[in-house]
Amino acid sequence: MDQPQLTDATAGTILIGGEANVRRLGYGAMQLCGPGVVGPPTDRDGAIDVLRTVVDMGVNFIDTADAYGPFVNEDLIAEALFPYTDDLVLATKGGLVRLPDGSWEPNGRPEHLKAAAEASIGRLGVDALPLYQLHRPDPDVPFAESVGALADLQTEGKVRFVGLSNVDLAQLREAQEIVDIVSVQNPYNLHDRHNEDVLRACEGDRLAFLPYFPLKGFGYAKGTPALTEVGAAHDATAAQAALAWLLGRSPVMLPIPGTSSLSHLRENVAAAALTLSEAERERLDAFSPSLSAKLGQLQGPLSASGRAKLREAAGPLRRLWAKLRFWD
Ligand SMILES: NC(=O)c1ccc[n+]([C@@H]2O[C@H](COP(=O)([O-])OP(=O)(O)OC[C@H]3O[C@@H](n4cnc5c(N)ncnc54)[C@H](OP(=O)(O)O)[C@@H]3O)[C@@H](O)[C@H]2O)c1
Repeated sequence: MDQPQLTDATAGTILIGGEANVRRLGYGAMQLCGPGVVGPPTDRDGAIDVLRTVVDMGVNFIDTADAYGPFVNEDLIAEALFPYTDDLVLATKGGLVRLPDGSWEPNGRPEHLKAAAEASIGRLGVDALPLYQLHRPDPDVPFAESVGALADLQTEGKVRFVGLSNVDLAQLREAQEIVDIVSVQNPYNLHDRHNEDVLRACEGDRLAFLPYFPLKGFGYAKGTPALTEVGAAHDATAAQAALAWLLGRSPVMLPIPGTSSLSHLRENVAAAALTLSEAERERLDAFSPSLSAKLGQLQGPLSASGRAKLREAAGPLRRLWAKLRFWD
């Protein structure tokens, strides 16, 4: 496949914080870690090649987090891309800690967030983090205290813009009382639209909405006939149809598809040039999420132990559903 090029005209741009103009297809770097988002990528040179190709193709927004690897992902970005081009917006996150047993635990204590931001500054080799996002609210820390720490970091010049992730509408509104929020990163894709209210609030306030799991994450992207058929009508893949649908869903939508594969990367960037017809959009808008996606949506606001309990409880139901699915 030829190398597609993303320009300001391809899918338009979004102004982050009223200052940083970002092309409306980003890249999520999380997949460039070892299995389970732990440790270095198995193909380190390949991962560096992917990151350099991302920028070569005109993508100027890259999402990462200190928890990816942990730390490995930020190190890799610096190794591949430093010194950074002037227009590149690096978005990292703090406040979610990867424990040795593999679980993800929120830590929104102000002292942790401040130390984590300093460490990300060091790894990425920047004077200030272009966009620092609270990875996940910590149920054990008042949300205002976590957001207050990000506000302090901005006042101290260590963070240029502040974003949120995994928040509901009430939390977005609460944070906006404390500091200027420029973006929200929540799960959103064809199968999972439970953050529609947050998306519409972002649209109203011109905040960037970063749908994570834009391809439904971790390999679920396959096997949706409506996407396959819509894609085929444009000589495109189901993944490309999914991204084109997302981009058309709102002018503040900034998808950050993740991939460790150069061919998928090219495919995803090419999707930004794909325009769906009104009828195709209506068909995908009307798509009804599967039961498993609905169960997945329930897990979002729960703690790690709550999610484990839900998975355990849902096991028999999932297995029964898998047996019955041929009636779908
Ligand atoms: N804030 C949060 O809590 C949070 C949580 C999860 C993710 N994120 C961010 O969101 C980004 C995106 O999420 P994600 O990477 O988990 O999910 P995703 O982008 O929905 O899907 C990635 C998966 O799809 C595959 N894929 C990518 N392009 C494809 C294509 N064109 N055709 C077929 N398969 C394709 C990838 O495999 P290959 O590598 O083989 O291409 C990978 O398995 C992450 O990288 C991360 O930056 C944030």
